[in-house]
Amino acid sequence: MPGTGKGSKMDIMQVIQARHSVRAYTGREIEPERRQQLDRLVQQYNAESGLHLQMRYDDPSGFDSRLAHYGSFRNVDNYLVLAGTKAPDLETKCGYYGEKFVLEAQKMGLNTCWVVLTFQKAAVRKLLAEGDRLVAVIAVGYGTTQGVPHKSKPRQRLIQCKGEVPEWFVRGAEAAILAPTAMNQQKFQIRLEGDEPTLRVSGLGPYTRIDLGIVQCHFEVASGHTIRIVGA
Ligand SMILES: Cc1cc2nc3c(=O)[nH]c(=O)nc-3n(C[C@H](O)[C@H](O)[C@H](O)COP(=O)(O)O)c2cc1C
Repeated sequence: MPGTGKGSKMDIMQVIQARHSVRAYTGREIEPERRQQLDRLVQQYNAESGLHLQMRYDDPSGFDSRLAHYGSFRNVDNYLVLAGTKAPDLETKCGYYGEKFVLEAQKMGLNTCWVVLTFQKAAVRKLLAEGDRLVAVIAVGYGTTQGVPHKSKPRQRLIQCKGEVPEWFVRGAEAAILAPTAMNQQKFQIRLEGDEPTLRVSGLGPYTRIDLGIVQCHFEVASGHTIRIVGA
């Protein structure tokens, strides 16, 4: 994927470690300068990817339902809509660019949560261009907390490598383990084959393609190396 960027790897690792899903927000408005920054990112990602991402501010209708409350979301007033025209890589691309957005938002002191289930799909679908498919949304705002680290599957089930392992691969693998996945399913496996890193699905499930894009993003931004998705 383009635009990985090789600079400030240490900083990005700290951002990745600090990010956790946050579902309850304080209601504090996102300031105009930060909105401009977020809007610029959305423009840039749409231009790069051909996706139709859009940022909604001060619009609680996307989470205004019993379902959203049941999913323990509170005061979600801002969210990113991830959508695009139907294509085999629509979901992985949404995962990749959505997570780039999440990490940038985290750098700006904002909290986020990916959401595929517990939001008002009917209200959000009304915002889409004709023919677009809605993939997910990402809640954005000032959290009441910073969230908590997720539990992980054993490292050896997620990462496979033999012999001398380069430092960039270790960093990428570390970042992948910290990536958010739907229901924390972590259905991925990263391998180092020769000097080529690959990313596979370790079991089919709903939303695994979005997860793969997210994991790809974490690996690439942390390691500075591209990773190829195999068999998805
Ligand atoms: C594609 C995707 C969809 C998700 N959908 C929901 C959702 O519908 N409701 C929810 O409460 N959390 C949702 N989550 C958040 C996950 O539960 C969370 O990322 C996971 O438990 C790992 O925790 P962490 O993000 O704090 O590391 C989703 C995450 C991803 C990546």
